[in-house]
Amino acid sequence: MSTIPTISPDPLVANRKKITTKVFQQKADRGDPISMLTAYDYPTALIMDRSGVDSILVGDSLGMVVLGYENTLQVTMEEMLHHCRAVKRGAQYALLVGDMPFMSYQVSVEEAVRNAGRFLQEGGMDAVKLEGGRERSSTVQAIVETGIPVMGHIGLTPQSVNQLGGFRAQGKTAAAAKKLYEDAIILQEAGCFSLVLESVPGRLAELISDKLEIPTIGIGAGKGCDGQVLVTHDLLGLFDRFTPRFVRKYADLFSEMERSFGEFIADVEEGEFPGVEHTVNMPDDEWMILMSEIGVKNR
Ligand code: KIV
Repeated sequence: MSTIPTISPDPLVANRKKITTKVFQQKADRGDPISMLTAYDYPTALIMDRSGVDSILVGDSLGMVVLGYENTLQVTMEEMLHHCRAVKRGAQYALLVGDMPFMSYQVSVEEAVRNAGRFLQEGGMDAVKLEGGRERSSTVQAIVETGIPVMGHIGLTPQSVNQLGGFRAQGKTAAAAKKLYEDAIILQEAGCFSLVLESVPGRLAELISDKLEIPTIGIGAGKGCDGQVLVTHDLLGLFDRFTPRFVRKYADLFSEMERSFGEFIADVEEGEFPGVEHTVNMPDDEWMILMSEIGVKNR
């Protein structure tokens, strides 16, 4: 019999159906808010899926919050696919979106289509996300034409951090806001099924959301979007370097993990762990045979 505990299906989600891009649109049309979170590994995806999240984004934020890079620019296709596969193994219901990393879709439309395809074929994703506005419209169109759903992402686009001069809010002047408004319309026309609006003024996000037919997913963009996404490590208090102002922390796992590791170390140092209940037992008769065979007495 297996000693590995199995996680039973959660009755709350037993009747759930797989979330598709169509369901995404239907939720937005009904005015039902869409929830999205990032995940990069099997257990997080499993728990998140059981919790009932609509969509899981395997974000390139992976580079910062899991791999410890300074920003998202170093993340590769191979790293993304590795983590996509882990998430796919954990999640049954959520719409799975793979984030196309820097330089996987900018060089040519052909390369972008091929890499987008890899997210579905090798990573098990249902859709891809890519950053940028009007300059990406032909890329979006080509990927969509191959049958791959694309989520757009405008506003603060972390892959352009060097051009933006840091992780700062976007669209705060009339001219910048107009450009974002137009970009949103162009991306919808290019075929995006949904659009992430990151770090833009709430009233602009609401204006764009009202204008577009496709669902908008906000992060640091106020209440006016059709859905909300957060980076899970921010929400759980697991990212040590900074917490953006728009994050609500639902847990402080950094402290909780630090406490648990500290208690383990103390238990080991003080001989408190392992206890008898953690130790494999051997029958006395077998032990006696062993002692006589190796010639050891009094043990
Ligand atoms: O990489 C990511 O996690 C993202 C979200 C912040 C939307 O792009």
